[in-house]
Amino acid sequence: MATQTNSTEKVKSRGLEGVVALDTELSFIDGQVGELVYAGYDIRDLAKHTSFEEVAFLLWHGRLPNKSELSDLESRLRSERTLAPMILDVLAATPEDANPMAALRTATSALAHFDGEAEDPSREANLRKAIRLTARIPSIIASFDRVRKGKAAISPKGEGSTAFDFLYMLNGEEPGEAAENTFDVCLVLHAEHGLNASTFAARVISATLSDMYSAVTGAIGALKGPLHGGANIEVMKTLLQLDASGRNPREFVLDKLQRKERIMGFGHRVYKTMDPRAAILRDMVEDLSEESGNRKLYDMSMEIMETMEKEKGLYPNVDFFSASVYNMLGIDTDLYTPIFAMSRITGWTAHLLEQWKDNRLIRPRAEYTGPKGLQIVPIERR
Ligand code: ACO
Repeated sequence: MATQTNSTEKVKSRGLEGVVALDTELSFIDGQVGELVYAGYDIRDLAKHTSFEEVAFLLWHGRLPNKSELSDLESRLRSERTLAPMILDVLAATPEDANPMAALRTATSALAHFDGEAEDPSREANLRKAIRLTARIPSIIASFDRVRKGKAAISPKGEGSTAFDFLYMLNGEEPGEAAENTFDVCLVLHAEHGLNASTFAARVISATLSDMYSAVTGAIGALKGPLHGGANIEVMKTLLQLDASGRNPREFVLDKLQRKERIMGFGHRVYKTMDPRAAILRDMVEDLSEESGNRKLYDMSMEIMETMEKEKGLYPNVDFFSASVYNMLGIDTDLYTPIFAMSRITGWTAHLLEQWKDNRLIRPRAEYTGPKGLQIVPIERR
């Protein structure tokens, strides 16, 4: 529970570290022991026993769905995946070398113009918008990837899970069961994570009583940064460079640390031990490596991990091993952060619904450190 202060009392915390800004029923993180819980359920159990769609329902409704609720949500998601022709036009007009997160940000913002309920603030309309956004973001990512490569966008199959239809729209062929299941687990693992930077950005926007599309567009912008979701792209670039150069991973890490540079995919504001999602993803990378008979990425990753733990006491976060999983699924490196967004959209929208249930403007203060009392010199004398 947050400590209440009166409006004249000031609490200063750089980067808001340690500040509890609000209450949430959506997720719990114990950064000391490496525990993550979505609405009461441990992430390890969810990854093993539930689908992404079940998790989406859990986050939006605070409980797991029964069979008919799940099949209703799945069919609503399937029926909402098709993009309006104008959105495809926006994607076609986007430069092919645009950052895919920037393309996603623009197209997601444009979705609002074709949603008759965009400005309807009722909870029912917002729930419907959450479903539409969750259905359409995968279509945007897959369509952008195809049009930038000079290929035609593929309409959704309107069948199967989010993971299935996304991989189908991206590759033009139905994924095998193993690839669909692996991808589905990744979506479960990325769905929700407390008041992280992008969720906080979304809640700040929503707390002004702006609309869901504005808040989600802002969240995508925040997730793009390499200190947040963008780290998974940087991780893959590093692993690919190491692989190509044949450089020793341990020496590479030591070199970077000596130069006071960061190793992406390590460290976390909340976890001071192994992120439980990273542990699940590490096992997935190991399994995929065994299946493919190529352990290169796994072995390099483990050497980096051991060096970071020994030298800095830092552990991998979710972005470190997810990068290798996506690489082994044959996905282009610059799509990793958009894929993060296609899962986190469920957490963002759940937080927006929660924010609007009991809204209060989010408005911290800044300490002024500039001069005072300056005299204005007329412009012609400056
Ligand atoms: N590599 C090397 N050193 C690091 C790293 C890293 N990845 N992360 C933190 N440190 C060091 C800092 O240099 C600092 O050391 P110092 O005290 O000697 O100066 C110390 O650890 C504390 O770092 P801060 O930046 O103050 O920690 P903060 O809580 O602000 O940062 C963050 C958390 C941004 C995630 C940081 O660990 C980082 O930059 N990691 C790399 C980027 C990354 O992987 N981001 C994804 C996070 S998970 C997610 O958002 C989905």
